[in-house]
Amino acid sequence: MAYRDEAAALPGATLYFDQGDPARGMPLDAVLADPGEARHLYVCGPRGLIAGVLERAEALGWPAERLHYESFKGAVALANDRPIRLVLRGSGRTLDVKADQSILDALIAAGLDPLYDCRRGECGMCMTPVLEGLPDHRDHALSAAERADGKVICTCVSRALTPELVLDL
Ligand code: FES
Repeated sequence: MAYRDEAAALPGATLYFDQGDPARGMPLDAVLADPGEARHLYVCGPRGLIAGVLERAEALGWPAERLHYESFKGAVALANDRPIRLVLRGSGRTLDVKADQSILDALIAAGLDPLYDCRRGECGMCMTPVLEGLPDHRDHALSAAERADGKVICTCVSRALTPELVLDL
């Protein structure tokens, strides 16, 4: 609201104010209906808002690399997040990551000492090699090539598209 006038003056800007009533809010599906070839989505706000927008965008076909958000408190849990079985190849350990827990937090809870810094998917400090399984990249640190390759994961925010991930830890 501090930048309401400036935002309203932007070309093509539309402002929505639901005043506490979601029925009066932004018609999310209509706004997100067309990812196009080069459109990018930026969302900022409370965790519930970010998670809701990202979830609808994902369902409507927006590629992950064109979704941008700033999660001031770290990983944003999505409604369809599932637990992950982690196999740590180097140590021979197996861990279960809860649906609402980050991989990084599961590693720390298990007594490991992984590198990390921002916990927001921005610095890349927690980047870990993936030996098997498909990462669900939710960071801003990896390049498009690294995402496509699927050989590393930022454990503080990213999850898995497969039930199990084998990490080189
Ligand atoms: S700790 Fe910074 S990207 Fe994970």
